[in-house]
Order: sequence, then C-alpha cells, then structure tokens
Amino acid sequence: METVFWTVSAEKPEQDIIKQAAEIIRRGGLVAFPTETVYGLGADGLNPEAVRRIFTAKGRPSDNPLILHVARQEEVFCLAAEVKEQAQELMRRFWPGPLTLVLPKADCIPDEVTAGLDTVAVRMPRHPVALALIAAGGAPLAAPSANRSGYPSPTTGRHVYADLAGRIEAVLESGPTGVGLESTVLDLSGEVPAILRPGGITREELQAVLGTVMIDPGLLDPRQKPKAPGMKYTHYAPRAAVYLLRGPSREKKALKIRELVGESARKGEKVGLLLTSETWQCFRDLSASRQRQDLPENVTYARDLGSSAHLEEIAHVLYGELRNCDAAEVDLIYTETYQEEGLGAALMNRLLKSAGYKIIDT
Ligand code: TXA
Ligand code: MG
Repeated sequence: METVFWTVSAEKPEQDIIKQAAEIIRRGGLVAFPTETVYGLGADGLNPEAVRRIFTAKGRPSDNPLILHVARQEEVFCLAAEVKEQAQELMRRFWPGPLTLVLPKADCIPDEVTAGLDTVAVRMPRHPVALALIAAGGAPLAAPSANRSGYPSPTTGRHVYADLAGRIEAVLESGPTGVGLESTVLDLSGEVPAILRPGGITREELQAVLGTVMIDPGLLDPRQKPKAPGMKYTHYAPRAAVYLLRGPSREKKALKIRELVGESARKGEKVGLLLTSETWQCFRDLSASRQRQDLPENVTYARDLGSSAHLEEIAHVLYGELRNCDAAEVDLIYTETYQEEGLGAALMNRLLKSAGYKIIDT
C-alpha cells in the first residue's frame, strides 16, 4: 500500500486535505494525525473492521484497548454509560487537552476498542488538525500513538512515516507535537480516581480539582499487574540499550558517565548521551580540567535535552532524541533520572520503561 504524506498547517488545516483524509476514515482506512501530545493512528472508532486494522498496522497486542478521540465534549455522553459530575468538571477544566478519562462504556462501542473491558477511554485533543479530522470523519477516532508497537511514540510526521509507511493510507504532518509525551490516563470508574498512566496533565493539577487521586499500584510495583493493559508491555524503547543515571549530584553523574564511556570505548561500543544542561556543564568542566574539551570518540551522538528546571522542554524532545540515537546506530544510551513531581512523573514512567528499569546509581 502506498502511504500518502500530506503536510498541513497546524493553525489553519487545509480543508481540502482534511476532507480527503476524512474520506479515508469513513471508508474504514487509517490516517495518522498530530495531537498536542504525540501523533495518533486514527480509524473510525465505531467500525470494528477499521479498528482491527490499527492493531495489525502497529503490531499491537489485541488485549490493549484504544482511546476514543472526540471533537466536542458532548460526544462523551454517547460513548459512556455514565458521565458523573466529577468527569464533567474535569472535561470543563482540562479539555481540549492531554487528559484521557476512563469511564463505564456505552453499548455502541465495539469490543475491539475496549479489548473487552467494560470501560472506555475518551479524550478531546487540543490540536486543530486532530479536531478538524475528527469532526470531518463524523465519528470518534480510535487512535493509539502512531508508532510500531514497543517503539517510542512519534512526535513528528516523519517518525510516523518511518514506522508505518506502506501499512497505513495516509499521514497528516504538521510539525512537532507540543507536550511530547502521551496524555494522562485517569480511571474514574472506581471509588477513588486513579492515574493509570502519568502524562501531560499532572497528578498535582488533578488533585487541585478532585482532592485525592491515587496512582495505580501496578505502576509503582513491577510485580503487580497495571490496570491499563498497555502499561505492562515493553514500551517507548529504542533499539539501543538505555541506562538511567541516578545520583545525589551532577558532579557524581558526570564522573560516572566518563567512566562508563571509557569502559564502552574499550569494548568498542558506540554511545549516545542525552543529558540535562546542568550535567553537561559538569561533564565539560571535568573535561576542561583534563585539557580535553572534546567528546570521547565513541560518543557518536550527544544532546543537551535542556535544563532540569524546565521538564516540559525535556519531555518535548525526548522521544525524538531516542529515535536519533538509533539513527546514529549507538549501542548504548546514557541518560538521567528526574524527580517524580509534576511532569517528572510522566518522564520517569516513560524512561524507566524505555530503559527496561536499568538504573545506575552514582
Ligand atoms: O496522548 C495520547 O494519549 C495518545 C494520543 C494519540 O492521543 N494516545 C495514546 O494511545 O497514547 P495508546 O494506545 O498508545 O495508549 C493508550 C493507553 C494504553 O496504556 C491503554 O492500555 C490505556 O491507555 N487504555 C485505553 N483504554 C483503557 C481502558 N478502558 N481501561 C484502562 N486503560 C485503558
Ligand atoms: Mg502508545
């Protein structure tokens, strides 16, 4: 299958292109599109056949349910069996935006979407292209992140094309996404609201509206089964092995990285370094004092991800940089841990999974 690649304006999506893309959706095809979090792979969420194609294109396990994307808040009332006041308050407060609500499902929703669960995940994205496509398609869009299953989510149309060309009908590209990490998945079907996946809306923001918000115990303890089926799989992982450096000080991290890079050089391994501005500063100071300002030769990819005081900047570039490391064919990636506050909780959740929980204490 030939995959059409359309470039559209993020502010004012070209209506003729949106129309053609919506026609593909109506006919049961797959169209990737930008959201404010990551690119999604959309299909008509009420067409079981179309939804099944998403799983095939991505190589996604069929027990992992999909999020339905709506263009207007009112649509939720058709998709959920019950929308409590609490949910409505969150919709008013955070939609359109990176918050997915898990609600009791309505009968019209195919089992393919919910993987047989009695709940459905719904969100209204904050991106003109996404909203235009959903509205023109005339149905809620079932859309997972538009990556091959297990790989980091795409934050540009090019990432989508690299993963899914030949497997889907079209890509709508309109530049890099904003948040760079997926939406927060919040389960409202139980007694106490529970975060099943930390994301673009933080626990602190949710608590300000809801009071108590739990974190799904399955997220914190690898021995327990997470409630969002998707969280149990290897995920967000580049081909290179990822290691997270954790330590009390930048200096210690920088020293440890030098040591590890040296070890890799002896083994003939190529290394990628994705570090905060602060750790780079220490790393450079260390090199300067030894009259060696240049990076070791086996560091073939190195990026400053930004200051740890601005986690939103790091989140924005992280997935793209993991992909860049693979493009540079590094064997190992050394990167860092973050405080699990605010957006740091989502960052750490993704990093731990992409690293397969490999942490190096310094
Ligand atoms: O930001 C996002 O949420 C992106 C964009 C495209 O909207 N979408 C996304 O979808 O990340 P996906 O399929 O990659 O991740 C959806 C997560 C999975 O962990 C899945 O298991 C969980 O949401 N999920 C979906 N429906 C659920 C349900 N009914 N109950 C519990 N978890 C659910
Ligand atoms: Mg995903």
